[in-house]
Amino acid sequence: MRDIGPAERWLIQESMGKIMSRKKIIAGNWKMNKTVHEALTLVAELKAQLIEFEGSDIVVVPPFTALYPVGLILEDTNIDLGAQNIFWKASGAYTSQISGTMLIDVGVKYVIIGHSEPRGRFGVPEPDAPEDFYRYFGESDYTVNLKVLAALKSGLTPIICVGETLDERKAGNTDTVVRDQVIKSLNKVDTVTSSHIIFAYEPVWAIGTGEVCDAAEADRVCGVIRDEIANQLGKEVAEAVRIQYGGSMKPDNAAELLSKENIDGGLIGGASLKAADFAAIVKAAQ
Ligand code: PGA
Repeated sequence: MRDIGPAERWLIQESMGKIMSRKKIIAGNWKMNKTVHEALTLVAELKAQLIEFEGSDIVVVPPFTALYPVGLILEDTNIDLGAQNIFWKASGAYTSQISGTMLIDVGVKYVIIGHSEPRGRFGVPEPDAPEDFYRYFGESDYTVNLKVLAALKSGLTPIICVGETLDERKAGNTDTVVRDQVIKSLNKVDTVTSSHIIFAYEPVWAIGTGEVCDAAEADRVCGVIRDEIANQLGKEVAEAVRIQYGGSMKPDNAAELLSKENIDGGLIGGASLKAADFAAIVKAAQ
């Protein structure tokens, strides 16, 4: 970690002040669900159920096709817009990719980077998939880092996902895997712009499986992530960074997970697709 001067320290403290005591952040990752029509219905229900709710930051993360119309509906509300991916180049001949400028253009504030699914690490493996199937989900620690740098440069807040597979956990490698992902994601990230970064601890074996990580263990691993952020970016930044838990978070287990010291929010998949469930989790964060 490089030394920081008084000006940098002041800037960090400024942004820490804004995140003071780490306001909870609940984000709904809709994955590849919801047409535009369905998305607008869901978001209208959420607006009604969460009107004037101020206790936590609330984010919905629709598929790319629904970002623009959902963003229009969310203007001037307490719900922010997130995207599920970003490409690291600003523009050019990159068929199929979406840049940070394009995301900002449609009102996006947050972007999920390095989710286990684009990394080709699935909680529920694809049945009968050939050997090379997972190669097509080509996210790596290297591309995650390029995307984190691009998001910060564009003015977006990255939500960086890390987490171990079941085999890695069984082999006793959880902490090593997670620390390694944190280190690689933060390569060349500087101390000044990084205190608003968000991490999500998402044990791969808990995603979409109904298996939830024990709250004490989830808290412990989030603590490991914070410790590694401190190694990379210093203690002040590590204390300011918010760390979400993701993996089968539901209305009935959210309150316990969200009460833990190192868990500052949730990244919700399945339960974010129903307004009542997502609203219940948002309220459980209180
Ligand atoms: P899940 O997904 O809540 O459906 O397990 C969480 C995620 O993948 O972000």
